[in-house]
Amino acid sequence: MLIALCSAKGAPGVTTSGLALALCWPRPLVLAELDPAGGDVLAGYGRGEVSAGGLADLELAARRGGPARHLDAQLMRLDAEGRVRLLPGLADPAGARHVDWDRLATVLASVEGGAVDVVADCGRLHAEHFPLPAVRRAAAVVVVTGSTLRAVRAAARAIAELQAEKGRGGMLGALVVGAGEPYGEREIGEALGVPVVGSLPRDAKAAAVLSDGEPAGRLFAQSALLRAARAVAARLADSAAAQESRLTPPPAPVSAAEATVGGSRVR
Ligand SMILES: Nc1ncnc2c1ncn2[C@@H]1O[C@H](COP(=O)(O)OP(=O)(O)OP(=O)(O)O)[C@@H](O)[C@H]1O
Ligand SMILES: [Mg+2]
Repeated sequence: MLIALCSAKGAPGVTTSGLALALCWPRPLVLAELDPAGGDVLAGYGRGEVSAGGLADLELAARRGGPARHLDAQLMRLDAEGRVRLLPGLADPAGARHVDWDRLATVLASVEGGAVDVVADCGRLHAEHFPLPAVRRAAAVVVVTGSTLRAVRAAARAIAELQAEKGRGGMLGALVVGAGEPYGEREIGEALGVPVVGSLPRDAKAAAVLSDGEPAGRLFAQSALLRAARAVAARLADSAAAQESRLTPPPAPVSAAEATVGGSRVR
């Protein structure tokens, strides 16, 4: 199941919010950095760690014969158990024009046969080479927005554009960073005409751990940002899964002759 995060003009925080959600995701997850402007997680949270591969190498491998077989080799662990993994984004944004977003979105929509969810950081909606196929294939598309009038207006325009896209019918929602500064979730939801999947507080200290690799410290896991991210991740994972099952056609009915266990009929 694929969940696409993107932003409109003037709304910082997609990468930080995506990483916070990824670290709190209730199921195994890949955070895929599809922002055509380049990936930030290794330079920030990873404190300059060098990737063994990532999106650019996956693209190269795909041209030689099918990305599904190669995806695993491009992922890096974000936690000790390897439950949360990262597909590092482009080191050089010039590579964005060569990425086959269609092919990549198809692969990311069913990692390990759907057993692994994918949250994709798609960056800004109006960026050149924006990964629109990821949005079209997603079970949920979430626009990250601030709570000022300026930010909400830009988010409303982005949502109108996304609604006009002929995707597979994924749910469209908004995630508010800094709700109540000044507008709250309810007012923003009404203005946007889509559900607000939740909000993340402004928490500069915890955000800097995620965006710039500041030392996490003992209280990071209990920070306001991570506590809120846990709640949003649980809610978003549930509603996206419900949407995914509405979109996925149910399996074909099994004929009576096939529905046997140990040679005897089930019914
Ligand atoms: N919830 C938050 N509270 C406080 N600061 C935040 C929060 N989320 C993000 N920030 C800060 O905002 C800045 C930009 O964040 P981030 O890189 O996630 O934005 P972005 O939308 O991905 O930007 P870009 O368009 O460059 O990819 C960073 O300094 C980050 O620490
Ligand atoms: Mg970003």
